[in-house]
Amino acid sequence: MSDQGQGPAVGVATKGPGGSGTPLLEIRDLSVSFPLERSTIHALQGLSLHVRAGERLGVVGESGSGKSVTAQSVMRMVPSPGRVTSGQILFEGHDILGLSSAAMHDVRGGQIGMIPQNPLSSLNPVITIESHFLEVLSLHLGLSKAQGRQRAVEALRSVGIPDPLTRIHEYPHRLSGGQRQRVIIALAMACQPRLLIADEPTTALDVTIQAQILELMDDLVASSNLGAVLITHNLGIVAGHCDRVVVMYAGRVMETATVFDLFDRPSHPYTVGLLRCVPRLTRTRSRVFETIPGLPPQVTTISTGCPFAPRCPRAADRCRTETPPLEPLAPAHLVACWDPVDQGAAVAK
Ligand SMILES: Nc1ncnc2c1ncn2[C@@H]1O[C@H](COP(=O)(O)OP(=O)(O)O)[C@@H](O)[C@H]1O
Ligand SMILES: [Mg+2]
Repeated sequence: MSDQGQGPAVGVATKGPGGSGTPLLEIRDLSVSFPLERSTIHALQGLSLHVRAGERLGVVGESGSGKSVTAQSVMRMVPSPGRVTSGQILFEGHDILGLSSAAMHDVRGGQIGMIPQNPLSSLNPVITIESHFLEVLSLHLGLSKAQGRQRAVEALRSVGIPDPLTRIHEYPHRLSGGQRQRVIIALAMACQPRLLIADEPTTALDVTIQAQILELMDDLVASSNLGAVLITHNLGIVAGHCDRVVVMYAGRVMETATVFDLFDRPSHPYTVGLLRCVPRLTRTRSRVFETIPGLPPQVTTISTGCPFAPRCPRAADRCRTETPPLEPLAPAHLVACWDPVDQGAAVAK
C-alpha cells in the first residue's frame, strides 16, 4: 500500500488559529479496507490530515469518499470486516492505533467526543437523558451520581436545552429532533474532550435548527479551545463554519487549503466541480442544479492514476497511469493533480 500513500501529513507546517506545535490530531498515510466475499473495498488509500487545537477542519466530498470511515478510524470503530492496513493516527503525538482497548476506552468519549452520522438513533430509547450522562461521566471522570447530575444539567444548559432540571428525566423520544441533537452534542462535550468529531451533524435537521447547532459548535470550539473535525458534503457549511478544509475523493485527499484559499482559488478539478454544485442566488436557474457528471467510484482495485480521471474534464494520459502526489501550490495549499486548474479562471463567478 505504501506506494499509494500521499506522503507526509498534509501541510503540518501551517498554523491553525489556535496556535502551533504538535497537531492535536494527525493522520498519516492511513489506509483502510473492507475485505468482502468477492472483492475488497479500499475505503481509505494513504489519507493524511491534521487538526490543531482551536481549529475547525472541514472534511468534504461526495458520498462514499471515505469521510465516515476516517472518523470511525480515529475512534477505532471501523465496522467489521474493515481494518486499518497501514498508517498512523496520532492524538497529541501518541499513535492511538497502538493503544490497549482499556486506554482507547478513555480516549473515546473522554478525550475525543464524536457526534456520529446518524445521531438521532444514537440515543438509547429506553433510558432517560440523565442515565445517558451518568454512564459516560462515571466511566470517564468517575463522577458520583450527584456530581454527574450537576454536570449533566450544566452541559444541557450550555447547549441551550430549556429547563434542563426537568428535561433530564425525559426519555429521548419526548424531545424534538433539534433538542436530541443538542443532547448528543452535550453528551459528546460532557467529559470536556479536546477534540470533537462531528459526522454530518445537521443532515437530519431543518435549516434553522442546523444553523443553531453549527453556531453552538462554533461557540464550543472558541470557548474551550477545542479542535473540531466537521464532516459534511455541504460546502456552504464549510464556508461558514470551518477554518481549513480537506477535499476527499475515493479515500484520498484531493486538495487542502484554508477555507478562504479553497473558495478563492480552487485548484483540483474535483473541487471546482463541487463548487459549481453549490447553488448561488446570482446564478440563472439552469445552473443551480449543476452536478459533476458520473458517479464516485467504489474502489475495489488499487490502480495507478488519479481516481477522479474518469470524470475529469481535464484528464490527460498521464492522469490515467500515474497517481498525482499531494503537493504544495502554496505553503498551506496542497493539491493532488497533474494539471491544477488555472487559478484565475477556476470557477465561473
Ligand atoms: N461497513 C462497511 N462494509 C463495507 N464497505 C464499507 C463499510 N462502510 C463503508 N464502506 C465503504 O467505504 C467507502 C467509504 O464509505 P464512507 O466513509 O461511509 O463514505 P462517506 O462517509 O464519505 O459517504 C465506501 O465505498 C463504502 O461503501
Ligand atoms: Mg458518511
